[in-house]
Amino acid sequence: MNGCMFEPSRLILRPLQVSDFAQVEWLTREAFWNLYRPGCDEHYLVRLMRDHEDFLPQVSCVAEFDNVVIGSILCTRSAVVGEGHCRMETVTFGPISVHPKFQRLGVGTALIDRTKVLVAEMGIPAIIIHGDPHNYCKHGFKNGKDCGVRSKDGDHPLGLLVLELRKDAFSDNNWRFFESPVYDLDEEAAEAYDRTLEPKEKKWQYSQEIFSILIRAKIE
Ligand SMILES: CC(C)(COP(=O)(O)OP(=O)(O)OC[C@H]1O[C@@H](n2cnc3c(N)ncnc32)[C@H](O)[C@@H]1OP(=O)(O)O)[C@@H](O)C(=O)NCCC(=O)NCCS
Repeated sequence: MNGCMFEPSRLILRPLQVSDFAQVEWLTREAFWNLYRPGCDEHYLVRLMRDHEDFLPQVSCVAEFDNVVIGSILCTRSAVVGEGHCRMETVTFGPISVHPKFQRLGVGTALIDRTKVLVAEMGIPAIIIHGDPHNYCKHGFKNGKDCGVRSKDGDHPLGLLVLELRKDAFSDNNWRFFESPVYDLDEEAAEAYDRTLEPKEKKWQYSQEIFSILIRAKIE
């Protein structure tokens, strides 16, 4: 794999197929390794998503270059629940992964753009994620507080991000966001799964400190 050879016109975006999962797990481990903690568990999440009832294969995509999958975006069902128990379906994506050798070449943007189109075609009013605003505000995401969406606990986490696909989708109620339970990972199981894979060196890097600050940050 060599990002120097990258040619955007040869990038293919296509639906994720069951046969892609081994490669998607591998590239997800490569992309997330040591980024948010020593090691990572996002590849274990990919493994669990595959058979989960909330997984949405019809809007999950891979990016292929020279017949190799170098990026992926996996989507799940989610929902917002407002006062009066009214409920609206939303879509959540994550993990989104681009192999480190192909990052900062537009692949992640291409995957997000395609997901926006596919989710809008489903008639879903918004994509809601937990993520780093640095990665997503450039794609039109806003903090939940600015769209009328809180966490399920009633907070406004810094990383609760909403992309409205229908203007003012949430302006008429006080909404709380519920993502799929597939994201509630059992850390010990994730660790045990990782031990079955090719060993990689776990180490500290400062991005882990930034992440630790971001996930505790809330907007008043
Ligand atoms: C986050 C991630 C998915 C983004 O994918 P990507 O392919 O690197 O994204 P893009 O190339 O579209 O955009 C990244 C940056 O490269 C820039 N870029 C895009 N094409 C470029 C090009 N041809 N030349 C130079 N820069 C370019 C973009 O402007 C953007 O810059 P910014 O971060 O300063 O705004 C990827 O970095 C990744 O897998 N990271 C590890 C896993 C992760 O953190 N996932 C997200 C969890 S919240």
